[in-house]
Amino acid sequence: MSILANKRLLLGVSGGIAAYKAPELVRRLQDAGADVRVVLTAAAERFVSPLALEVVSQHAVGRALWEPDGASRIVHTDLGKEVDLIVLAPATADLVGKIAGGLADDLLTTTVMACSTPVLVCPSMNTEMLGNPFVRRNLDALAAEARYTLLEPGVGLLACGVTGPGRLPDPPEIIGAAAAVLTPKTLAGVRVVVSAGPTREAVDPVRYLTNHSTGTMGFALARAFAASGADVTLVAGPVGLPTPVGVARRVDVASAADLARAVADAWDALDVLVMTAAVADFRPRVPAAQKIKKTDMAGELAIALERTEDVLATASARPGRAEKVLIGFAAETRDVERYAREKLARKGLDWIVANDVGAPGVGFGAGDNEVQLIGRSGAAVRYDRAPKDVIAASLVAALAESIARKVRRG
Ligand code: CTP
Repeated sequence: MSILANKRLLLGVSGGIAAYKAPELVRRLQDAGADVRVVLTAAAERFVSPLALEVVSQHAVGRALWEPDGASRIVHTDLGKEVDLIVLAPATADLVGKIAGGLADDLLTTTVMACSTPVLVCPSMNTEMLGNPFVRRNLDALAAEARYTLLEPGVGLLACGVTGPGRLPDPPEIIGAAAAVLTPKTLAGVRVVVSAGPTREAVDPVRYLTNHSTGTMGFALARAFAASGADVTLVAGPVGLPTPVGVARRVDVASAADLARAVADAWDALDVLVMTAAVADFRPRVPAAQKIKKTDMAGELAIALERTEDVLATASARPGRAEKVLIGFAAETRDVERYAREKLARKGLDWIVANDVGAPGVGFGAGDNEVQLIGRSGAAVRYDRAPKDVIAASLVAALAESIARKVRRG
């Protein structure tokens, strides 16, 4: 279940062109289980219809500070106190400036100021505006306050025709950031290294051996550990994925040997090692120095392979192992639980996450996964098919207490 399930959210929409994306964002937040109310600024109403947002959110949309009939009644600004999180998307330079300057002259700014509810700020604006030193100062001022979390805008083609930073991140990124804000920080200060993705083993200067891993599950885990307050280092094989929000550092690697080196370098300063990477078990013994030409081969090419280092098994035998938590992944196509338990024992792990990579719709390259979490003792806990982000958050929630206990004791 997503952390957003049954949470009450207030979406504050200010007047940038990205306001047209608000109804879709409301829908996606609802898909994650949230109840969403919307407050619009007057400028936002020029870009998105209050009626559309009312229909989608199934709540009256907050618009003005005063009743439209000019009566002296004030529309209540307690909405911020009644929700778990305020999401400002898009947050214009004007909205950010007002909040950073302590100004409150409309319903949205007054609502934000009149409560202490956490705020996720999703700025979106023209690249030049974003680069303006006063706008940057205001964004930095918000980011420096514990109550505010800044989701930096993406790079893309903006409405003004310029390609650059300023784009409102897509709903999955905003939802991930919202979930991160609401996740309890049970792993604050715990140093976690997550490896993710495939490796590439050179055959010759233009070819390599690899596998179907896309890194999605490992990146989702890195994000989920970061959301729980952990200090996360992501060791990433060659994948085209952006670094998840909250991940402190990323080390890009290509081969199994690179990955082994990165883990060895990180070993002394880590508390938890999560090996999601699909590490090649074999590599060409001697990669060809020049491109192999098919005309040089008599219709057949044999490549001599040698074993790579088993990174987890090596880590398990290192000094200091007893104070650390080692978590492996088992990619299997049959007898999933039996093989996973056998790997857990053989590699001396604390936990193993088993997934059936042969099952349709889950595993390598799929958006969903379905896994079993198996500890040294005890039964396997099954996590039914769900998006990888959701599976990752559930795994971290399940592991957090035991990790915190061991690492603090250690
Ligand atoms: N692993 C590793 N180093 C390797 C191979 C695997 O550290 N050279 C890690 C993986 O990251 C994973 C776990 O070991 O966490 C199990 O990987 P998996 O590929 O399922 O198993 P293998 O040990 O490679 O065994 P087999 O391929 O025979 O199933």
